Amino acid sequence: MSILLEVKNLRKYFKTPKGMLHAVDGVNMQIESGKTLGVVGESGCGKSTLGRLVLHLLDSSDGEVYYQGNNITHVNKKELKELRKNMQMIFQDPFSSLNPRKTVSQIIVEPLQIYKAYPSKKDMIKKVYELMDTVGLAKRLEYSYPHELDGGRRQRIGIARALALNPEFIVCDEPVSALDVSIQAQILNLMQDLQLERKLTYMFISHDLSVVKHVSDNICVMYLGTLVESCASKNLFKNPLHPYTKALLSAIPVPKINIEKKRILLKGEISSPINPKPGCRFAPRCLYAKDICTKKQPKLIEVEENHFVACHCLKENNKESM
Ligand SMILES: Nc1ncnc2c1ncn2[C@@H]1O[C@H](COP(=O)(O)OP(=O)(O)O)[C@@H](O)[C@H]1O
Ligand code: SF4
Ligand SMILES: [Mg+2]
Repeated sequence: MSILLEVKNLRKYFKTPKGMLHAVDGVNMQIESGKTLGVVGESGCGKSTLGRLVLHLLDSSDGEVYYQGNNITHVNKKELKELRKNMQMIFQDPFSSLNPRKTVSQIIVEPLQIYKAYPSKKDMIKKVYELMDTVGLAKRLEYSYPHELDGGRRQRIGIARALALNPEFIVCDEPVSALDVSIQAQILNLMQDLQLERKLTYMFISHDLSVVKHVSDNICVMYLGTLVESCASKNLFKNPLHPYTKALLSAIPVPKINIEKKRILLKGEISSPINPKPGCRFAPRCLYAKDICTKKQPKLIEVEENHFVACHCLKENNKESM
């Protein structure tokens, strides 16, 4: 197993008028080469911030990022430009991330021009056509503008652009959340095919556990800036251990009508990420919260091989599954 990306104790605090907002608060994780790590959690839990920190689109407040074993936390501009070739991002809303005044081919050619990837214009155009073909965009669309295309095609432009420099690693931030369900499947299939063909490594961010389930080898569950559970995707669905993961899983609809599923409804308020109180961030909504939960923040610990959970009361809450 070779680790392509690792983050250690990564933090990002934003200064706000009400105090420091702890968007990402001490995250540790690893992504294996050629695999997909799903990052899931409710809106506002810090997923996009984590993705941006990993790609250096944001400076971290503390912690480290390693790429192929090298500490890339404090790289200079030149090193960063070099790294960017290998590390790209696909955004949730291709409409706002694509320049509306540029045509499809102008958008895709841009990274090739910035990096002077090809000596001649002819070769560059050839590469644009190749990329359009790879992501399933017909050549006749080369002069179209993003607003003339549907959401699925716009996301294909975003993918082509991300692939232009032959990256190894892509942060996919809610890449299908803005798309119709039927188109979601097409884009997810395309991304999986590309992963196999090009040995890509993905960090796949979504608020929707059912989407993450289909694409991820491993999954990290985030809650208010912290990781609460992390393990192989199959294991998370078979044997979830954290109360928050269990609640998330119970909310996924079951396709078979004769199976009844008990939904765990989360009560209580999400606590504020600004100057967070000590203890477990999930405590105000947790059915099992005890005294210690509001005093001490639980650490993410390995409870079985490659299964990490942050909860003080793990054994009591999972008597039958542990
Ligand atoms: N530039 C910023 N300035 C202040 N707060 C921010 C900024 N970016 C994100 N946040 C806050 O950080 C938290 C995490 O945001 P985000 O990473 O976008 O979450 P997610 O992607 O999981 O929805 C939220 O409370 C959000 O309001
Ligand atoms: S540490 Fe306590 S509050 Fe947090 S999830 Fe575990 S039982 Fe619930
Ligand atoms: Mg987000």
